[in-house]
Amino acid sequence: MIEEIEQYFRDFTQELAQVATRDELHRVKGKYAGRKSKFPVFLSRLKILPLEERRVVGQKLNEIKLLIEQLLKEKEAALLKEEKKEVLDISLPGKREPLGAFHPLRIVMDEIIAIFRSLGFRVEEGPEIETDFFNFEALNIPRDHPARDAQDSFYLEENLLLRTHTSPAQIRVMRKLAPPFRVIVPGKCYRRDAFDATHSPMFHQVEGLVVAPGISMGDLKGTIEIFVRRLFGEERKVRFRPSYFPFTEPSAEVDISCSICQGQGCRACGEKGWLEIMGAGLVHPQVFRNAGYDPEKVQGFAFGMGVERITMLKFGIPDIRWFFENDVAFLSSFKALR
Ligand code: DAH
Repeated sequence: MIEEIEQYFRDFTQELAQVATRDELHRVKGKYAGRKSKFPVFLSRLKILPLEERRVVGQKLNEIKLLIEQLLKEKEAALLKEEKKEVLDISLPGKREPLGAFHPLRIVMDEIIAIFRSLGFRVEEGPEIETDFFNFEALNIPRDHPARDAQDSFYLEENLLLRTHTSPAQIRVMRKLAPPFRVIVPGKCYRRDAFDATHSPMFHQVEGLVVAPGISMGDLKGTIEIFVRRLFGEERKVRFRPSYFPFTEPSAEVDISCSICQGQGCRACGEKGWLEIMGAGLVHPQVFRNAGYDPEKVQGFAFGMGVERITMLKFGIPDIRWFFENDVAFLSSFKALR
């Protein structure tokens, strides 16, 4: 009978281990501890045993009965605790997922694109890995030309490099499209520059190119003036300074009036009253020839601007490195803008 009682206990513990709800517990409790359990049967059998045996078996039976009751109680307490944990407290405030923000360069880049789109420009792209031909040669910058010094480059192979400006896209666009057209080409550029407050080895430009018969400096000036006023505000003045680029003739650099001193001269603008924002000019006849165009039949203007510089001027950011340090405090300050 001892063996039978022990087997009964083993069955009980096995079933108890499977219990996951209070309903199931109730069932197991009825089967092993209630009036319908095997205990009344064990007790009546106990009565007819010889005295000595009755004492031993009776003790065993009592022991197992107490143990079963204790284990049932423990299980019940554990289930209750589990249930309490799962109760949903809808008075607690919800978890707010942190929202990302657009990067300031993305914000300004998109703004530049939107302005030119509204002026009838289409958006094209060019590859970041360029050939020497598109990056330099076709733009009238031959090997050993001093203009190459200003654009020290990352070379992958002798004739393959990370583009130093977006201007090579001018040639690609001219070969792809037929005039008349207006395009802008936004994108990343790379130069072997130091990483300091005003230089970064990776930066962004937006290139512009308009080709049609009879395009003049007047078209360039009008377009850029509208662009600057839309981006920086109606009160901004624009100035064209004569300059030199191998791929434009004539060439100009474009300045905007300093917003801090209103053109009077201050530390921000180096006492000049003006801040440079882009290079521009009329497309050089040789560049047209390199692209397969006849410079007698079409004319054009081009410009290229640095997005970091424009963003720094627009928001008063003193250090270009701030764009690339992933400082959340800095980046999230542009959240409200878009
Ligand atoms: N590509 C020149 C640079 O990175 C900028 C530039 C100047 C672009 C004159 C032009 C241009 O399209 O006409 O320094």
